[in-house]
Amino acid sequence: MMDRARIRHHFPSLTFVAIATVVLVIAAAGFIYFGAYNIAADAPHTRPVYAMLDGLRERSIAVRSRNIAVPGNLADAKRISSGAALYKEMCSGCHLGPGVERSEMSQGLYPRAPELAETADLSPAQQFWIIKHGVKLSAMPAWGKTHPDPLIWDMVAFVRKLPGMTGEEYKTLIAGAPAEHDEMMKDMGGMKGMAMPAAPHGHD
Ligand code: HEC
Repeated sequence: MMDRARIRHHFPSLTFVAIATVVLVIAAAGFIYFGAYNIAADAPHTRPVYAMLDGLRERSIAVRSRNIAVPGNLADAKRISSGAALYKEMCSGCHLGPGVERSEMSQGLYPRAPELAETADLSPAQQFWIIKHGVKLSAMPAWGKTHPDPLIWDMVAFVRKLPGMTGEEYKTLIAGAPAEHDEMMKDMGGMKGMAMPAAPHGHD
């Protein structure tokens, strides 16, 4: 059995740990207080900060979207068409689309809004979660505050069609889109109707 003196020899003393902790806390507070970190959207994160935020975001989304049940009818033309209308109105200013010219807003965003026509690495559940809840410290809004789940799935259905879509197909889908946005919201019972079904499974 090791005697206490030898064990103590291998570990820093409690006083040392306490002083080191206080010094670190003061350094961190000073870093924040003196504005050392540039929060500007036109100055990219340093590599370690970027890596940390990227990991934080990826794990948060993966874990929180794990138990979301995906509807079986995401390929339905009706869903895609409804999603097209919503996308054109609410999303294309940031996420653009096939043949859509880069907007001024999209160029100034940091983190950039990914061009959804060019990225296809998220699952439907993850896309649903992101669209419904948004992403903190980025410009991605939480559309679930104003839209019921079925309309969010319509957007997922459309977004999943985007990769590989031509500019012509995009235009046709947008043009053939159904009723006005407000009409669709009315069909869904609008904002009042959505508070009810969303409540029991509020974590999805
Ligand atoms: C004001 C700009 C803005 C608008 C409007 C916007 N988004 Fe986003 N969106 C973002 C940004 C920025 C990100 C990246 C967030 C990040 O890096 O974590 C993002 C991320 C996403 C992602 C994840 C993409 C990926 O591959 O990581 C999806 C899906 C998405 N948005 C869908 C939508 C949909 C659908 C709409 C419309 C209902 C919409 N967004 C409207 C800015 C916007």
